[in-house]
Amino acid sequence: MTTWLVTGGAGFIGGNFVLEAVARGIKVVNLDALTYAGNRDTLASIEGDPNHVFVHGDIGDRALVAQLLAEHRPDAVVNFAAESHVDRSIDGPAAFIQTNVVGTLALLEAVRDYWKALQGAAKDGFRFLHVSTDEVYGSLGETGLFTETTAYAPNSPYSASKAASDHLVRAFHHTYGLPVLTTNCSNNYGPYHFPEKLIPLVIAKALAGEPLPVYGDGKQVRDWLFVADHCEAIRTVLAKGRVGETYNVGGNAEKQNIEVVKAICALLDARCPREDGKPRESQITHVADRPGHDRRYAIDASKLRDELGWAPKYSFEQGIAETVDWYLENQPWVQRVLDGSYRLERIGVAA
Ligand SMILES: NC(=O)c1ccc[n+]([C@@H]2O[C@H](COP(=O)([O-])OP(=O)(O)OC[C@H]3O[C@@H](n4cnc5c(N)ncnc54)[C@H](O)[C@@H]3O)[C@@H](O)[C@H]2O)c1
Repeated sequence: MTTWLVTGGAGFIGGNFVLEAVARGIKVVNLDALTYAGNRDTLASIEGDPNHVFVHGDIGDRALVAQLLAEHRPDAVVNFAAESHVDRSIDGPAAFIQTNVVGTLALLEAVRDYWKALQGAAKDGFRFLHVSTDEVYGSLGETGLFTETTAYAPNSPYSASKAASDHLVRAFHHTYGLPVLTTNCSNNYGPYHFPEKLIPLVIAKALAGEPLPVYGDGKQVRDWLFVADHCEAIRTVLAKGRVGETYNVGGNAEKQNIEVVKAICALLDARCPREDGKPRESQITHVADRPGHDRRYAIDASKLRDELGWAPKYSFEQGIAETVDWYLENQPWVQRVLDGSYRLERIGVAA
């Protein structure tokens, strides 16, 4: 039986990944610190499943990680655990360094020691997959795409901390031989997305009849990757990726933020019109831009397609419609998340 140690598996992407892995018969040891972004509700459907072992703990706790590795003998470690929100990194960068850099280092050291002691096929087949972001490459102009050889130029404390973690992962391969893989993906969206991020935030505020805050002119461009496509890409890289390589993962769906917001408004208007019949676009309000806001990110994912045969299955139109439907059907999940500390407030203005 295949066993994976997944970190950050109570978060958005990690949660989707764990649910899919357990459904595929893989045993998952899920290590998550349950920060504000971690939510065990996401894992309710696999609660009590013998193939899911949830461990409340920190990737920076090297002794705990070593103990989990010794006990469960995983075939791979997939590292999602991170502080992940750019706005929060503007208000408090230290937590990002602590988890994304110091925590990843402790995890790498524990995994290296475990891997070194493996033998034969177990050692040859072992993989450490690090999940990272396209934000490490900085910002693009009107044209061009990030490739795996684009120079790192992170602009926010978040992306700087992810860049540092990517470098540590690379160094553990070159220095100690640890069989690592790194994926750098674009903006994910889909079910179980914490409502501080653009798409679930807009859905929540649109339903509540509140102003829809669009940063600056809203013409910042992002590539949007449906989370199920991303999870499949990670499984593909884990199974077939060349050790030591990095792979960009993108959704072939470049959109301006304002286009995303308008698409959500139109879907909600069609599914549950406002009582007064007004279009939800009327709720759009332009607010001060994020300090240092990157203008455009775009991904060239041809390496992953040509080498490993992965391409996204979802168009943006399909993915966003499924996402809106999921949020409409899962309002209790949203409410339980919002019963925690976060109240849809604006953060990261660096006043
Ligand atoms: N969401 C995106 O669009 C996106 C895009 C590119 C890359 N990524 C990367 O993908 C990964 C997952 O992102 P996400 O959006 O699911 O994040 P998320 O914020 O939703 O979830 C992060 C999870 O990590 C856990 N965690 C935080 N610190 C921890 C620690 N010290 N030890 C153990 N667990 C800890 C949290 O409790 C949470 O469950 C991150 O590494 C992020 O940088 C995300």
